[in-house]
Amino acid sequence: MSKTPFSEIIERYPAERSSILSILEDIQAEYKYLPREALEMVAERLHVKLSEVYQLATFYKAFSLTPKGDYLVKVCLGTACHVGGGPRVLAAMEKALGIRAGETSPDNRFSLEAIRCVGACALGPMVLVNERPYSKMTPMKAEELAGQLKRGEVPITPAAVVVEARPSGPVDLSAVPPAG
Ligand code: FES
Repeated sequence: MSKTPFSEIIERYPAERSSILSILEDIQAEYKYLPREALEMVAERLHVKLSEVYQLATFYKAFSLTPKGDYLVKVCLGTACHVGGGPRVLAAMEKALGIRAGETSPDNRFSLEAIRCVGACALGPMVLVNERPYSKMTPMKAEELAGQLKRGEVPITPAAVVVEARPSGPVDLSAVPPAG
């Protein structure tokens, strides 16, 4: 299935600065990351500096600047999930998917990430697949879930992207090119 062109996504919104976040959310949902060309087009069409678009793209943890697999699997290793067995769930997921946390499979089907608290501690250990939550996970349930993903039994379409600022520290501007 072909993806919606960047220009079409950008045109859904008024050409003004306040549209940046909504446009980035839609591009992230469609492409599972924010390609550089998309950020350049957003800057150009909305008449804002590219550095400003990059600043938002790096500030919100729902956004990624690198490509992800069709299935983005996130295993929570926040305190509660860690205590509840999150590391064992992650290890089972790594084994079942054949990739380590932080990696994407060579066929681009799966990306695996260890993440911090997603705010559902009572239901942990938590796993998110394209932002869909799976609660009370165990190594066995992780293995079953990985099997469902491999068989394509879980929809690839992402649940709504949750835009949440990165929890701490200043905005990482290391990826920001000179303003242009
Ligand atoms: S620690 Fe995992 S949801 Fe809070």
